[in-house]
Amino acid sequence: MPLDRGLDSARVALKVGLGLAAFLAGLDKFFNLLADWGAYLSPLASAVLPISAVTFMRVAGVVEMAVGLAILTRWTRIGSYVAAVWLLAIAAKNLAMFGGCCVAFRPSADTPQRRANASDPLQRQPADVRTRPAIGLLTRLALIAVAIAAVAGTFACFGGVRSDALTPARIVDRFEQVDGVHSGFRRNHAKGLGVSGSFESNGNGVRLSKAAVFEPGRVPVIGRFSLDGGQPYQPDRPNTRRGLGLQFSLPNGELWRTAMINFPLFPVRTPEIFYERLLAFKQDPATGESDPSKVKAFEDRHPETVDVLKKITAEPRSSGFGNTTFYGLNTFLLTNAAGVTIPVRWILKPMQPFEAAGAAPPDRNYLFHDLITQVHRQPLRWRLIVIVGTPADPTNDPSIGWPADREQVDVGTLTLDRVEAEEFSAATDIFFDPLMLPSGMAPSDDPVLRVRSPVYSQSHTRRAGETRQPSAITPADVKTGE
Ligand code: HEM
Repeated sequence: MPLDRGLDSARVALKVGLGLAAFLAGLDKFFNLLADWGAYLSPLASAVLPISAVTFMRVAGVVEMAVGLAILTRWTRIGSYVAAVWLLAIAAKNLAMFGGCCVAFRPSADTPQRRANASDPLQRQPADVRTRPAIGLLTRLALIAVAIAAVAGTFACFGGVRSDALTPARIVDRFEQVDGVHSGFRRNHAKGLGVSGSFESNGNGVRLSKAAVFEPGRVPVIGRFSLDGGQPYQPDRPNTRRGLGLQFSLPNGELWRTAMINFPLFPVRTPEIFYERLLAFKQDPATGESDPSKVKAFEDRHPETVDVLKKITAEPRSSGFGNTTFYGLNTFLLTNAAGVTIPVRWILKPMQPFEAAGAAPPDRNYLFHDLITQVHRQPLRWRLIVIVGTPADPTNDPSIGWPADREQVDVGTLTLDRVEAEEFSAATDIFFDPLMLPSGMAPSDDPVLRVRSPVYSQSHTRRAGETRQPSAITPADVKTGE
């Protein structure tokens, strides 16, 4: 089981287990099924209490029930802290009472006389407690160990990680909730086609970063064009977000991976809002449209996203993959040989001329089929442009663009000259982790960037363990026009 799913299951198991245990232990203070609670306290404690031991234990029972309910509902974190302290106190009590007879488990010989005494507080004297059989050393040690383990588990699951925390597994679950599970396919950008070629650096990037990819020269590249969403057989539509994942193999053995899209801005600024948006914008597979009422509810909660979407949709779509501009969107940090670090973003500008997208033709795979035809005709090329930010530019928000006058450095040319069916492409098994960076490049403080790496890894782990169905774009499609 992948680590994050395992952690999620452990958290749920601990939440339910701890919550129920606390609630039932509290309830039992009124029924004395597990123990004779009126006799639980030490004689000294019973003597100094201003209320009877039975009443005291019932009050404790109410507290335990409240803690149990808190854990089981939305106050899991605070409830678990209280339970942890409570359990530690029980462990401490048992440690302190070693040698005595402090735990009031029901005696094995549960005679009617004992039951009568137990239900009558006046009959339940400390002396009676002392006459109960002492629980064994091993049992008591086991109790202490269980209490300490429960405390450690509680802190591990609820202390370090918030119980409602958005984990990579939950994000991937959300993709599956929206698009279903398609065996062996990426949970996002499921429909795609492999490509390969090279990147020729012109040396202009050396002053920005010591990364080997900027040294003058050519390096091999493996890539994958894709469409957004977890549907591997969706029809190509002009407005569906397009993706390009790239892996550069550097001469020193390092890899640089980047995954870019054709939108100039990311629609949201945090992974949490992205998670919410996925569901709100869930598309009807037949029409490709989202439910307007759900979209509106999302936009009411996040009004800042309305403007961002307007800017994204105002950008004209190009007719195909080959004349698409791809944006890296997230901010990265480049460090040069002199140790100077700058924030940057990057884009790929097509060298194929722009042509506006028209309506989708009847061919469900027209974008990919056109791409295959174009690459068979001649290699496709893009310029890799590094945009240099200033201290005024936000580094942690991919939904905000940087001013158009920022310095743009053309660092080299990407050439893609082979198309490869997913069944045979090396790109199929790669996950284009944007944090796979060579020395001289580093991630910024962008939370969207930071969540991508573990989410892609989670998606990869799931699909790698599944039997893969054939891709929409077949090996025969790729051979057409060769
Ligand atoms: C919260 C933000 C994001 C989440 C949760 C997310 C999630 C994912 C997932 C699960 C995959 C499939 C990974 C695999 O199995 O290989 C994927 C692929 C991809 N993502 Fe993202 N993504 C996010 C943001 C972005 C951004 C900002 C970009 C572009 C700048 C981007 C571009 C891509 C591309 C191009 C692919 C396909 C790569 C390939 O062909 O393997 N994503 N994304």
